[in-house]
Amino acid sequence: MASSPDRTLAVADMATDFRGAMRRLASGVAIVVAQGAGAPVGMAATSVTSLTMDPPAILVCVNQSAGIHPCLTPGSPISVNILSRHQRDVSAAFGGAVAREKRFEVGQWSIDDHGLPTLDEAQANLACTIGNIMPFGTHSIVVAHVTAIRLSAAVEPLIYQDGQYL
Ligand SMILES: Cc1cc2nc3c(=O)[nH]c(=O)nc-3n(C[C@H](O)[C@H](O)[C@H](O)COP(=O)(O)O)c2cc1C
Repeated sequence: MASSPDRTLAVADMATDFRGAMRRLASGVAIVVAQGAGAPVGMAATSVTSLTMDPPAILVCVNQSAGIHPCLTPGSPISVNILSRHQRDVSAAFGGAVAREKRFEVGQWSIDDHGLPTLDEAQANLACTIGNIMPFGTHSIVVAHVTAIRLSAAVEPLIYQDGQYL
């Protein structure tokens, strides 16, 4: 294999192309909520993925710099709320447009059996318990067992693609 004449350029191209590839990967959006010190914390995530059916489990990739990250510990509960099409304001707020302590003022939230906020009118609300956390680069892969589910009647998920909502 020929070596690259300009490694710096090759690395820059890889970063640009990787970003371009991921912008072409359409995703649903979820709000991941955990209990912080005295108040809940939440973050928007496109990385929520179905992991296994038996046991019912998901994974989510969380930046280690995110406010929620220190609250994600094995055995602790999280609430994962898959957004509906009309909830793009909730996605934007929990994606960083609104200060951490004011995010739960956006959207209608109830309290689940673990005392965590759960989003009304979401496509699905998953009550989860964290199993494993695996650091990888800048992120951590968080594996969580799904313990309870609430579903919306209609299937109308919010989709994020190319930096925009569909
Ligand atoms: C649509 C959307 C999807 C996102 N997906 C992820 C994700 O999967 N993992 C992640 O770590 N950050 C993701 N982010 C970025 C975080 O939501 C954002 O950085 C947030 O502000 C982090 O929380 P903090 O401000 O409390 O640190 C996403 C943001 C948006 C708008």
